[in-house]
Amino acid sequence: MNSDILISRRSLIASAAASMALSACGSGSGSGSDDGARLDGGAIASSDKYSSEAGKAILQAGGNAVDAAVAIAFVLAVTYPEAGNIGGGGFMNIFIEGKPYFVDYREMAPAAATSDMYTRFKTADGKQDPLSSLWGAQAAGVPGTVRGLYEAHQRFGRLAWKDVLAPAIDLADKGHVASKAEVFWRDYAITNFGSSGYPANLMEYFGTMREGQLFRQAELAETLRRIAANGSDEFYKGRTADLIVAAMTQDGGRGIITKADLANYKVVWRNPLPIEWNGMTVYTAPPPSSGGIALGQLLGMKAALRGTLFVGERPNTVQYMHLNAEMLKRVFADRAEYLGDPGFVDVPQARLLDPAYIRARAAEVNPREITPTETVQPGLAKMHTTHFSVVDKWGNAVSNTYTLNMGYGCGVVVRGAGFALNDEMDDFATVPGQPNIFGVIGSDANAVAPGKRPLSSMSPTILVKDGLPTMVIGTPGGSRIFNAVYQVLANTYDYQMPLPAAVANRRFHHQLPQGRIMEGEPFSPIPPDLAQQLQARGYTISTNSFDTDIQAIKITGRDVMPVSDPRGRGLALIVT
Ligand code: DON
Repeated sequence: MNSDILISRRSLIASAAASMALSACGSGSGSGSDDGARLDGGAIASSDKYSSEAGKAILQAGGNAVDAAVAIAFVLAVTYPEAGNIGGGGFMNIFIEGKPYFVDYREMAPAAATSDMYTRFKTADGKQDPLSSLWGAQAAGVPGTVRGLYEAHQRFGRLAWKDVLAPAIDLADKGHVASKAEVFWRDYAITNFGSSGYPANLMEYFGTMREGQLFRQAELAETLRRIAANGSDEFYKGRTADLIVAAMTQDGGRGIITKADLANYKVVWRNPLPIEWNGMTVYTAPPPSSGGIALGQLLGMKAALRGTLFVGERPNTVQYMHLNAEMLKRVFADRAEYLGDPGFVDVPQARLLDPAYIRARAAEVNPREITPTETVQPGLAKMHTTHFSVVDKWGNAVSNTYTLNMGYGCGVVVRGAGFALNDEMDDFATVPGQPNIFGVIGSDANAVAPGKRPLSSMSPTILVKDGLPTMVIGTPGGSRIFNAVYQVLANTYDYQMPLPAAVANRRFHHQLPQGRIMEGEPFSPIPPDLAQQLQARGYTISTNSFDTDIQAIKITGRDVMPVSDPRGRGLALIVT
């Protein structure tokens, strides 16, 4: 253990309880001013109150941003079971002691995976079944979360491993009050995927969960206790590994993850993708995420058009939405053609982010007409995921997005271990030309192959100015992720909105191959007059968006302002 401070589990839980009492009397999130509070103890914006309170307790106990992030991630695996996980994967972007790091703990395809494995699953009428990569054990990739959190903690944590797991174990043992959303996403999964016929046992574990009632997870508590005692090897080589392998064929399932797949799972330490923008370095997600390249292209194209097409445009005017839709078309065309796991395909990252290329792409934006989808070519020759952002009193920052893909993943809960497995295999281009659940397509670059990581959109991002983190940001939302991060950054830095307003502002989405759809969001639908103007320009309006849920922290000098998206059930906290 590399921890130099040991704290007792009892003291952690006591301070978690104390801070929970505090928040009940209103120590809440952003007030609407952008001054924030002094960065004395750190700040957290996480996607529910349990995880924010646990992160706060860890910071108050002397932990750093990485300790808090690991504790938050394990708590979300208990209290945000539709997305928080130990059965999935994600990305952790870290800025610590003045240096950037990026932990890629994305799922890997099992060794027996093949590029045509999903074409063999047919519906009753003989067609390829798109649900086969979404539901049932055959939809699961080899989970990366436990190894990713463990390696981040080994390298940078200050507190003992067992102490950062303690809040999660306690909540699994004693229970948490189930939210409306947890119940909603369970029912959504069962209704939309449950009838597909692939064996899944989600209801055996989550069937008794009721909104507003205490929900206990005794088996998950035991699993977390074993991981606390034995480290990540427990998950990849120990009893938990045996239980995962058994879950592959439970109830007649057709899963293919073996003990060797688990033993061979590897975290990849990458350099975050740096983008120079507005006098800051935006450290964001490199491949196998598409998010960083997409965010870089969006910020770059908008900057290229700042002095021309964007002059006089404010966020969410019809012309602003149209210009962004034109940019997004180019981004999604490149995403579909070039992006995949860099361990398997040559991702032309430098060329996709070359300022000259971005200027040329920006010049293709048609300010008046919708460019027809067929003519947008690659340019070179809800569900669920969750995000949290943390800064500590030393100014270190963590931006972490992790996921099961859709809510509750593939619906298979590992019997005897009490956690759900992901359905991340659907992020591969499982069938050429066929859109995945988020409506996006891919090419050979993102075909299934043994050991390969599916292309992601997750974009945990840290902006650094003069060597110090100044914004920590990210969100769930599938293919909407990098566009949501982009819109909030533009609101904040191009339009000087205070962070709470920048986050709360209505967001829109546009992607290929759909091409003419301008998507609003259930949180704040496109108002009728704006919808009419967009329709007059040739757009079709839809509000069936996958919700995004931004968790952001802005740091200006010693002032700090954490904001949790009003769309979600998050809580922003300032630690004193
Ligand atoms: O990695 C990705 O891009 C997706 N698996 C993320 C899924 C997601 O954000 C679902 N939540 N709304």
